[in-house]
Amino acid sequence: MSKPKVFITRKWPESVEAKLKELYDVTLNEYDRPLSAAHFRDALQHYDAVCPTVCDSFPAEVINVPNKRCKILGNFGVGFNHIDINAAKEQGLVVTNTPGVLTESTADIAMTLLLMSARRGAEGDRLVRARQWTGWCPTHMMSSDVTGAALGLIGFGRIAQAMARKAHHGFNMKIYYFSPRAADQHVVDDLDATRCETLEELMQVSDYVSLHCPGGAETHHLINEQRLSQMKPTAHLINTARGDVVDSKALIKALKEKRIAGAGLDVYEGEPDIDEGFLSLENVSLLPHLGSATIATRTAMGEKVLENLAAFFAGQEPPDRMA
Ligand code: DGY
Repeated sequence: MSKPKVFITRKWPESVEAKLKELYDVTLNEYDRPLSAAHFRDALQHYDAVCPTVCDSFPAEVINVPNKRCKILGNFGVGFNHIDINAAKEQGLVVTNTPGVLTESTADIAMTLLLMSARRGAEGDRLVRARQWTGWCPTHMMSSDVTGAALGLIGFGRIAQAMARKAHHGFNMKIYYFSPRAADQHVVDDLDATRCETLEELMQVSDYVSLHCPGGAETHHLINEQRLSQMKPTAHLINTARGDVVDSKALIKALKEKRIAGAGLDVYEGEPDIDEGFLSLENVSLLPHLGSATIATRTAMGEKVLENLAAFFAGQEPPDRMA
């Protein structure tokens, strides 16, 4: 029997690509070129499985291509707001993702950004590189404490809880969260976590607000001018979730006018294009969507896609089916 034809949209870690070559009639993207909607439509017509990732857009116009051969989108990534899930369902396309394996690395990056923003890490690095540091003095680059401060988490899924563990057990931070669902009692007890009834309450009590909700229509610009105005002027906003959860223009204004102290961002509206307004601000730390970017995590993400494809082609339910 011939092997299923599999299309991989971007370069994956080598060990996973080697397994793909063994198991499937696979087309890789060895030069890691970003592909267009036309490429994706063509792939859906000529391959049994297409494996996109976070930076590939699969709206209805792509998914509804006629004469489809593809039966499964094996997404490399946990977030899937770049795929029109309803269109996929209507077209009978199975969609899978890669939950669980990027929890700790993404929480680590959220904590990194929190520390960078609090302690003005990126700003200090720029100062030293520009040879503008004139030496230690008692009032130079004073910043905010992290240890013992209040951390407010918006969304309280796996990544938020992992960050809360690091923050609470490592930095003695007081944990608040806002989520549609109350956390399990053992989690609340372990973290001494307080659930806020409203988002406003969370914005008001937190010294650091970290976003962990999914992207998409429901959370688009959840953090807008009004929400930012509810934060303490000494507070920092951390975003490792999705760029469009934050209204960039409103955040730039709040940072410029020092209505909040700082922000740490790993994700952006319309990334990789970044609003120019961020670039000239000292009080924002910017990372290029590095949340899951450790060798072990990216390899584990690839392995997860392999598990999902293997189950699907064996006629079983894929473990991480989203649609
Ligand atoms: C995901 O998997 O959705 C992450 O954003 C990748 O880091």
